Amino acid sequence: MKDKLDHSIDIATKEYVDALLGLSETMFHDFKNILAIISGLSQLSVLDATSPVIKENLNTINKAALDCKDIIDKFYSFINGYNSEYKEDRVFGNIVLNSLDMVKHKINSVAEQDNRIELNLSINSLSKVYCNEYRIRQALLNILINAIDAMEEDGGVLGISLYERVGRIFLEIWDTGIGISDENIDKIFMHKFTTKGVNGTGLGLKISKDIFEDHGGSIFVLSKQNVGTKFTIVLPISETGLIDTL
Ligand SMILES: Nc1ncnc2c1ncn2[C@@H]1O[C@H](COP(=O)(O)OP(=O)(O)OP(=O)(O)O)[C@@H](O)[C@H]1O
Ligand SMILES: [Mg+2]
Repeated sequence: MKDKLDHSIDIATKEYVDALLGLSETMFHDFKNILAIISGLSQLSVLDATSPVIKENLNTINKAALDCKDIIDKFYSFINGYNSEYKEDRVFGNIVLNSLDMVKHKINSVAEQDNRIELNLSINSLSKVYCNEYRIRQALLNILINAIDAMEEDGGVLGISLYERVGRIFLEIWDTGIGISDENIDKIFMHKFTTKGVNGTGLGLKISKDIFEDHGGSIFVLSKQNVGTKFTIVLPISETGLIDTL
């Protein structure tokens, strides 16, 4: 009964969010057209204006219109992040660094408890991956947070290594935390498998795996209890992205 209820709430929420997204897309489009008119006409009028004050005002109007367009572009790509169909060429290393920034507070909070987490970072790729940046970041955050969780008690080293081989990007995220038992290693990508009790939903790795596979990639794990864990993510480099970096 509860599952059924959750499901209908999910559907209602999704329909509502889809309607909002559709509305915002139309709004962004109309706003951009209006801003293009304001910016274009103010630029043209500067050429004919004789008064220095009017010239300055027109330049300010033009700049304000361009700033406004920037804000709309940012908001638009943020909204598109929720649309799993939306993909573009992005430098993968930047997504990794952004994701790391987002978990720094968690690394620091472990450090405050005297269990230092040392960072071992090596980024050796500038290539682009054709992806939905927001979903990839969500997947990376899940793995980074798991690694930090695994070192919460005793601290340790969080390793991030990015490199490329024959048209593919390899990202290794490793930790020297509690590790995963042989018994559990085959279950960690399963829906709702968690060893964290009420602190975990067991959805993180399943969602991450689906996201990487949806991008033509894959994820592998190696782990030894009380030694640590290494996740390796492999993704295809975008063909245009590769040309860009040559
Ligand atoms: N780096 C790691 N070190 C040790 N165990 C790990 C690591 N990563 C994942 N695991 C194990 O895999 C399980 C599943 O991970 P998953 O991210 O799917 O769920 P979770 O972290 O338990 O909950 P959440 O939904 O909040 O992410 C974890 O409960 C943990 O037992
Ligand atoms: Mg998790």
